[in-house]
Amino acid sequence: MSTTAVEAPASQVPTTDGDADFESLARRVDDAAAALEGLDESSRAVADEVKAAVEAIHRAGLVTIVQRLRSDDAARAVLFELVDDPVVHMLLSLHGIVRPDPMTHANRVLVTVRPQLQSHGGDVVLVRIEDGTAFVRLDGACNGCSMSSVTLRNLVESALVEGVPSITGVEVLPNEPSPTLIPLESLRIGPDPASEGWVKVGPTASLPDDDLTTLSLSSASGDLVDIIVVNAGRRLSAYRNECAHEGLPLDNAVLDIANGTLTCPWHGFCYDATSGECLSAPGAQLEQVPLRVDSGDVWVRVGT
Ligand code: FES
Repeated sequence: MSTTAVEAPASQVPTTDGDADFESLARRVDDAAAALEGLDESSRAVADEVKAAVEAIHRAGLVTIVQRLRSDDAARAVLFELVDDPVVHMLLSLHGIVRPDPMTHANRVLVTVRPQLQSHGGDVVLVRIEDGTAFVRLDGACNGCSMSSVTLRNLVESALVEGVPSITGVEVLPNEPSPTLIPLESLRIGPDPASEGWVKVGPTASLPDDDLTTLSLSSASGDLVDIIVVNAGRRLSAYRNECAHEGLPLDNAVLDIANGTLTCPWHGFCYDATSGECLSAPGAQLEQVPLRVDSGDVWVRVGT
């Protein structure tokens, strides 16, 4: 039989400290389980058998203890108290003697899909469970309008419905956008527009309906400023050409006129097309650039 030496992680070193906290105990279990992955197949089979044999003894003893405590009126109260202790609860639920409460169970399930969500710039928060429905908030790319965001939402839904028996459906709660304000004085065009940072884009007719236009404009100081102008149902808005997620350009963003949204092509962050408010990540937004229409010409203020 071949063997592979695997060094025990620091958290696996046996301790005589009976006061170890829940986190370090759980980490020790995780580290030990991860170390098993480093063994060759036959060694892992032996280790798994040892683990299963020890767990079977523990389970049998725990079942006896729980049954005896439950059968005694006075002891039952102690049992219920013990079950509230996080370590005891973890131990009993690991052995299938108590069922974790649905919130705990659902959060454990979400931990398994979170790395996949986060690798795509998304995340999920479980808000509550009511009558078999899990209410969640989705952040980042999970909450966009793209195909990838739909896939991520489906991933969350199937993980919860398949992983938690008491959950039969999932509802996504809306994220509240906050308003964008541009000071009124920044929209006035004085007698010398260039000195105030205004640049003429051109006649309104040069901006195609229901489309976005990318522009590279020179500010008064000579700096080039990349912007996009969104024409959504003849409502014009201008933004810096940088997604709020990773600052990547929005040249190929998808403008959805029916829903009034603009979706970044890179990771699916979804924005309100006319305010730049990010609907995927609360608090994020496109940097709006002041825009005015004066005598049929469109002006944007890109700075002095
Ligand atoms: S969503 Fe990532 S850069 Fe736009």
